[in-house]
Amino acid sequence: MAHRWQNDLTDRDVTPEGVFWNRRRLLAGLGGVGLGAIGAGNAALAEGAELEPNTWEDVTSYCNFYEFGTGKTDPATYAGQMTTSPWQVEIDGLVDRPGVYDFDQIMSEMSIEERIYRFRCVEAWSMVVPWQGFELADLLALAGVQSEARYVAFETLLRPEEMPGTRYGVLDWPYREGLRLDEALHPLTIMATGIFGKPLPNQNGAPLRLVVPWKYGFKSIKSVVKITLTDQEPATSWNMANAREYGFYSNVNPEVDHPRWSQASERRIGGGLFTRRQPTLMFNGYEAEVAALYDGMDLSKDF
Ligand code: MTE
Repeated sequence: MAHRWQNDLTDRDVTPEGVFWNRRRLLAGLGGVGLGAIGAGNAALAEGAELEPNTWEDVTSYCNFYEFGTGKTDPATYAGQMTTSPWQVEIDGLVDRPGVYDFDQIMSEMSIEERIYRFRCVEAWSMVVPWQGFELADLLALAGVQSEARYVAFETLLRPEEMPGTRYGVLDWPYREGLRLDEALHPLTIMATGIFGKPLPNQNGAPLRLVVPWKYGFKSIKSVVKITLTDQEPATSWNMANAREYGFYSNVNPEVDHPRWSQASERRIGGGLFTRRQPTLMFNGYEAEVAALYDGMDLSKDF
Protein backbone atom coordinates (compact mmCIF):
# COMPACT_ATOMS: atom_id res chain seq x y z
CA MET A 1 0.00 0.00 0.00
CA ALA A 2 1.28 3.49 -0.75
CA HIS A 3 2.55 5.54 2.17
CA ARG A 4 -0.27 7.79 3.17
CA TRP A 5 1.59 10.04 5.60
CA GLN A 6 4.71 12.12 5.13
CA ASN A 7 7.08 12.41 8.08
CA ASP A 8 7.31 16.02 9.19
CA LEU A 9 10.27 15.38 11.49
CA THR A 10 13.84 14.72 10.45
CA ASP A 11 16.70 12.78 12.01
CA ARG A 12 17.81 15.98 13.69
CA ASP A 13 14.57 16.09 15.68
CA VAL A 14 15.03 12.56 17.00
CA THR A 15 15.81 12.17 20.70
CA PRO A 16 19.41 10.97 21.15
CA GLU A 17 19.35 7.19 21.35
CA GLY A 18 21.26 7.04 24.65
CA VAL A 19 18.74 9.36 26.28
CA PHE A 20 15.87 7.22 25.00
CA TRP A 21 17.25 4.00 26.50
CA ASN A 22 18.01 5.70 29.79
CA ARG A 23 14.85 7.76 30.00
CA ARG A 24 13.23 5.90 32.86
CA ARG A 25 16.39 6.05 34.92
CA LEU A 26 16.82 9.73 34.13
CA LEU A 27 13.21 10.48 34.86
CA ALA A 28 13.23 8.44 38.05
CA GLY A 29 15.62 11.05 39.37
CA LEU A 30 12.99 13.71 38.85
CA GLY A 31 10.57 11.99 41.22
CA GLY A 32 6.87 12.62 41.64
CA VAL A 33 3.89 12.22 39.40
CA GLY A 34 3.61 14.60 36.54
CA LEU A 35 7.20 15.10 37.61
CA GLY A 36 6.16 17.95 39.82
CA ALA A 37 9.09 17.95 42.25
CA ILE A 38 11.30 19.91 39.90
CA GLY A 39 13.77 21.35 42.37
CA ALA A 40 14.50 18.15 44.24
CA GLY A 41 14.42 16.18 41.02
CA ASN A 42 17.01 18.33 39.34
CA ALA A 43 19.30 18.06 42.32
CA ALA A 44 18.96 14.29 42.21
CA LEU A 45 19.75 14.32 38.51
CA ALA A 46 22.78 16.48 39.00
CA GLU A 47 24.14 13.95 41.46
CA GLY A 48 23.17 11.07 39.25
CA ALA A 49 21.10 9.75 42.14
CA GLU A 50 17.93 7.72 41.77
CA LEU A 51 14.83 7.97 43.87
CA GLU A 52 13.07 4.66 44.19
CA PRO A 53 9.45 5.01 43.05
CA ASN A 54 7.11 3.27 45.40
CA THR A 55 3.73 4.98 45.40
CA TRP A 56 0.87 3.93 43.13
CA GLU A 57 1.38 7.19 41.25
CA ASP A 58 5.02 6.47 40.68
CA VAL A 59 4.25 2.97 39.58
CA THR A 60 1.58 4.03 37.14
CA SER A 61 3.69 6.82 35.74
CA TYR A 62 6.60 4.45 35.14
CA CYS A 63 4.41 1.89 33.50
CA ASN A 64 6.36 0.06 30.90
CA PHE A 65 5.73 -3.66 30.48
CA TYR A 66 3.83 -4.86 33.51
CA GLU A 67 3.84 -8.50 32.40
CA PHE A 68 7.45 -8.48 33.59
CA GLY A 69 6.77 -6.58 36.81
CA THR A 70 5.98 -3.09 38.00
CA GLY A 71 9.48 -2.18 39.16
CA LYS A 72 11.25 0.11 36.76
CA THR A 73 14.07 -2.33 36.10
CA ASP A 74 11.83 -5.42 35.86
CA PRO A 75 11.16 -5.33 32.09
CA ALA A 76 14.84 -4.99 31.31
CA THR A 77 15.64 -7.81 33.74
CA TYR A 78 12.97 -10.29 32.68
CA ALA A 79 11.78 -9.46 29.17
CA GLY A 80 14.74 -11.26 27.63
CA GLN A 81 13.17 -14.58 28.58
CA MET A 82 10.12 -14.02 26.37
CA THR A 83 10.23 -16.25 23.30
CA THR A 84 9.44 -14.08 20.27
CA SER A 85 10.11 -16.52 17.48
CA PRO A 86 8.04 -18.18 16.19
CA TRP A 87 5.33 -15.55 16.74
CA GLN A 88 1.74 -15.70 15.66
CA VAL A 89 -1.03 -13.14 15.56
CA GLU A 90 -4.60 -14.34 15.58
CA ILE A 91 -7.00 -12.05 13.76
CA ASP A 92 -10.66 -12.83 14.37
CA GLY A 93 -14.13 -11.38 14.80
CA LEU A 94 -15.73 -9.37 12.01
CA VAL A 95 -13.23 -10.23 9.27
CA ASP A 96 -13.48 -12.16 6.01
CA ARG A 97 -10.32 -14.19 6.58
CA PRO A 98 -10.02 -14.98 10.29
CA GLY A 99 -7.00 -16.99 11.21
CA VAL A 100 -3.61 -17.31 12.78
CA TYR A 101 -1.08 -15.24 10.89
CA ASP A 102 2.56 -16.11 11.26
CA PHE A 103 4.71 -13.03 11.90
CA ASP A 104 7.37 -14.04 9.35
CA GLN A 105 4.66 -14.71 6.81
CA ILE A 106 3.12 -11.30 7.45
CA MET A 107 6.48 -9.63 6.97
CA SER A 108 7.78 -11.57 3.99
CA GLU A 109 5.09 -13.17 1.89
CA MET A 110 2.39 -10.60 2.28
CA SER A 111 4.52 -7.72 1.06
CA ILE A 112 3.67 -5.32 3.83
CA GLU A 113 5.93 -2.37 3.26
CA GLU A 114 7.94 -1.10 6.21
CA ARG A 115 9.28 2.41 6.68
CA ILE A 116 10.62 4.77 9.32
CA TYR A 117 8.11 6.87 11.30
CA ARG A 118 9.57 9.69 13.38
CA PHE A 119 6.82 10.27 15.89
CA ARG A 120 6.54 12.61 18.83
CA CYS A 121 5.56 10.72 21.93
CA VAL A 122 4.47 12.08 25.24
CA GLU A 123 3.85 10.95 28.78
CA ALA A 124 4.94 13.45 31.40
CA TRP A 125 8.00 13.78 29.21
CA SER A 126 8.23 14.02 25.47
CA MET A 127 10.60 12.65 22.89
CA VAL A 128 10.85 11.98 19.20
CA VAL A 129 11.25 8.29 18.51
CA PRO A 130 12.13 6.73 15.15
CA TRP A 131 10.01 3.61 14.80
CA GLN A 132 10.17 1.11 12.01
CA GLY A 133 6.87 -0.37 11.04
CA PHE A 134 3.87 -0.42 8.79
CA GLU A 135 0.32 0.82 8.86
CA LEU A 136 -2.08 -1.20 10.98
CA ALA A 137 -4.50 -0.69 8.08
CA ASP A 138 -2.28 -2.92 5.93
CA LEU A 139 -2.43 -5.74 8.45
CA LEU A 140 -6.20 -5.40 8.83
CA ALA A 141 -6.56 -5.47 5.04
CA LEU A 142 -4.97 -8.94 5.03
CA ALA A 143 -7.82 -10.21 7.16
CA GLY A 144 -10.51 -8.20 5.34
CA VAL A 145 -12.52 -5.98 7.68
CA GLN A 146 -16.27 -6.49 7.42
CA SER A 147 -18.64 -3.57 7.14
CA GLU A 148 -20.25 -4.09 10.57
CA ALA A 149 -16.92 -3.75 12.37
CA ARG A 150 -16.62 -0.59 14.52
CA TYR A 151 -13.73 -1.31 16.90
CA VAL A 152 -10.45 -3.17 17.05
CA ALA A 153 -9.40 -5.01 20.22
CA PHE A 154 -5.80 -6.04 20.89
CA GLU A 155 -4.27 -8.52 23.31
CA THR A 156 -0.71 -9.09 24.46
CA LEU A 157 0.91 -12.47 24.91
CA LEU A 158 0.06 -14.06 28.26
CA ARG A 159 2.69 -16.67 29.11
CA PRO A 160 3.13 -16.72 32.89
CA GLU A 161 6.18 -18.98 32.80
CA GLU A 162 8.05 -16.27 30.90
CA MET A 163 6.26 -13.27 32.42
CA PRO A 164 6.68 -13.07 36.19
CA GLY A 165 4.54 -9.93 36.51
CA THR A 166 1.43 -11.78 35.35
CA ARG A 167 1.39 -13.73 38.62
CA TYR A 168 0.16 -10.54 40.26
CA GLY A 169 -3.22 -8.99 39.73
CA VAL A 170 -2.05 -5.41 39.12
CA LEU A 171 -3.86 -5.48 35.80
CA ASP A 172 -6.40 -7.88 34.38
CA TRP A 173 -4.36 -10.13 32.06
CA PRO A 174 -3.89 -10.41 29.19
CA TYR A 175 -3.04 -6.72 28.67
CA ARG A 176 -5.82 -5.35 26.48
CA GLU A 177 -6.23 -2.25 24.39
CA GLY A 178 -8.67 -1.00 21.82
CA LEU A 179 -9.24 1.57 19.11
CA ARG A 180 -12.24 2.72 17.19
CA LEU A 181 -12.02 1.37 13.64
CA ASP A 182 -11.47 4.79 12.06
CA GLU A 183 -8.61 5.43 14.50
CA ALA A 184 -7.15 2.04 13.66
CA LEU A 185 -7.30 2.70 9.93
CA HIS A 186 -5.70 6.14 10.22
CA PRO A 187 -2.30 6.31 8.46
CA LEU A 188 -0.60 7.47 11.69
CA THR A 189 -1.56 4.25 13.46
CA ILE A 190 1.25 1.79 12.99
CA MET A 191 2.45 -1.61 14.04
CA ALA A 192 6.10 -1.18 14.96
CA THR A 193 8.75 -3.85 14.50
CA GLY A 194 11.85 -1.76 15.14
CA ILE A 195 13.21 1.28 16.90
CA PHE A 196 16.35 3.38 16.33
CA GLY A 197 17.19 1.25 13.33
CA LYS A 198 17.14 -2.07 15.25
CA PRO A 199 14.56 -4.77 15.76
CA LEU A 200 12.35 -4.03 18.78
CA PRO A 201 13.96 -5.20 22.01
CA ASN A 202 11.65 -7.51 23.96
CA GLN A 203 11.03 -4.91 26.62
CA ASN A 204 9.70 -2.50 24.03
CA GLY A 205 7.21 -5.04 22.73
CA ALA A 206 8.92 -7.40 20.31
CA PRO A 207 8.21 -8.50 17.75
CA LEU A 208 5.15 -6.38 17.03
CA ARG A 209 3.57 -3.52 19.00
CA LEU A 210 1.04 -0.81 18.35
CA VAL A 211 2.04 2.88 18.19
CA VAL A 212 -0.65 5.60 18.15
CA PRO A 213 1.22 8.90 18.36
CA TRP A 214 -1.70 11.15 19.29
CA LYS A 215 -2.59 9.05 22.34
CA TYR A 216 -0.89 8.50 25.70
CA GLY A 217 1.74 5.78 25.74
CA PHE A 218 -0.28 3.09 27.47
CA LYS A 219 -2.49 2.71 24.37
CA SER A 220 0.59 1.39 22.55
CA ILE A 221 0.13 -2.25 23.44
CA LYS A 222 3.23 -4.41 23.23
CA SER A 223 3.91 -7.92 21.93
CA VAL A 224 0.51 -8.29 20.29
CA VAL A 225 -0.85 -11.81 19.71
CA LYS A 226 -4.50 -11.18 19.05
CA ILE A 227 -6.54 -8.64 17.10
CA THR A 228 -10.34 -8.81 17.12
CA LEU A 229 -12.71 -6.74 15.01
CA THR A 230 -15.94 -6.06 16.88
CA ASP A 231 -19.05 -3.90 16.85
CA GLN A 232 -18.75 -3.15 20.60
CA GLU A 233 -16.25 -0.90 22.36
CA PRO A 234 -13.71 -3.34 23.79
CA ALA A 235 -12.57 -3.48 27.41
CA THR A 236 -9.08 -2.11 28.00
CA SER A 237 -6.74 -3.04 30.86
CA TRP A 238 -6.19 0.45 32.26
CA ASN A 239 -9.85 1.36 32.03
CA MET A 240 -10.75 -1.85 33.85
CA ALA A 241 -8.15 -1.05 36.52
CA ASN A 242 -9.27 2.54 37.06
CA ALA A 243 -12.08 3.89 34.89
CA ARG A 244 -12.05 7.31 36.54
CA GLU A 245 -8.46 7.91 35.50
CA TYR A 246 -8.15 6.07 32.20
CA GLY A 247 -10.79 6.39 29.51
CA PHE A 248 -11.15 4.47 26.29
CA TYR A 249 -9.82 7.24 24.06
CA SER A 250 -6.75 8.45 25.97
CA ASN A 251 -6.08 11.15 23.43
CA VAL A 252 -3.31 13.55 24.40
CA ASN A 253 -5.31 16.57 25.55
CA PRO A 254 -3.75 19.41 27.56
CA GLU A 255 -7.23 20.67 28.47
CA VAL A 256 -8.29 17.52 30.27
CA ASP A 257 -6.32 16.85 33.42
CA HIS A 258 -5.74 13.41 34.78
CA PRO A 259 -7.66 13.39 38.12
CA ARG A 260 -4.39 13.53 40.00
CA TRP A 261 -2.17 15.70 37.81
CA SER A 262 -2.18 18.34 35.12
CA GLN A 263 -1.56 17.19 31.58
CA ALA A 264 -1.02 20.72 30.25
CA SER A 265 2.75 20.59 29.92
CA GLU A 266 5.54 18.14 29.39
CA ARG A 267 9.32 17.99 29.66
CA ARG A 268 11.15 17.67 26.40
CA ILE A 269 14.04 15.33 27.08
CA GLY A 270 17.26 14.95 25.14
CA GLY A 271 19.44 17.36 23.25
CA GLY A 272 21.49 18.19 26.33
CA LEU A 273 18.89 20.04 28.32
CA PHE A 274 16.36 17.36 29.05
CA THR A 275 14.10 19.09 31.50
CA ARG A 276 12.71 21.91 29.42
CA ARG A 277 9.02 22.29 30.10
CA GLN A 278 6.74 23.13 27.23
CA PRO A 279 3.00 23.22 26.67
CA THR A 280 1.57 19.90 25.56
CA LEU A 281 -0.12 20.20 22.21
CA MET A 282 -3.62 18.97 21.44
CA PHE A 283 -3.41 15.43 20.07
CA ASN A 284 0.33 15.61 20.76
CA GLY A 285 0.80 17.94 17.78
CA TYR A 286 -1.12 15.73 15.33
CA GLU A 287 -4.26 17.86 15.49
CA ALA A 288 -4.30 18.64 11.77
CA GLU A 289 -4.21 14.94 10.98
CA VAL A 290 -6.61 13.50 13.55
CA ALA A 291 -8.94 16.16 15.00
CA ALA A 292 -11.63 15.37 12.44
CA LEU A 293 -12.00 11.88 13.93
CA TYR A 294 -13.52 13.49 17.02
CA ASP A 295 -15.74 16.14 15.49
CA GLY A 296 -18.82 16.71 17.62
CA MET A 297 -17.53 14.72 20.60
CA ASP A 298 -17.11 16.14 24.10
CA LEU A 299 -13.53 15.12 24.80
CA SER A 300 -13.84 15.92 28.49
CA LYS A 301 -16.38 13.08 28.68
CA ASP A 302 -14.78 10.81 26.12
CA PHE A 303 -11.28 11.16 27.53
N1 MTE B 1 1.88 -3.18 26.70
C1 MTE B 1 1.82 -4.25 27.52
N2 MTE B 1 1.52 -5.44 27.00
N3 MTE B 1 2.04 -4.16 28.85
C2 MTE B 1 2.33 -2.96 29.44
O1 MTE B 1 2.51 -2.91 30.67
N4 MTE B 1 2.67 -0.56 29.11
C3 MTE B 1 2.19 0.57 28.34
C4 MTE B 1 2.53 0.46 26.85
N5 MTE B 1 2.26 -0.88 26.38
C5 MTE B 1 2.40 -1.80 28.61
C6 MTE B 1 2.18 -1.96 27.21
C7 MTE B 1 2.69 1.82 28.86
S1 MTE B 1 2.01 2.30 30.35
C8 MTE B 1 3.60 2.59 28.20
S2 MTE B 1 4.02 4.13 28.81
C9 MTE B 1 4.25 2.12 26.97
O2 MTE B 1 3.90 0.78 26.66
C10 MTE B 1 5.75 2.22 27.13
O3 MTE B 1 6.39 1.85 25.94
P1 MTE B 1 7.98 1.94 25.84
O4 MTE B 1 8.53 1.14 26.99
O5 MTE B 1 8.36 1.36 24.52
O6 MTE B 1 8.31 3.39 25.98
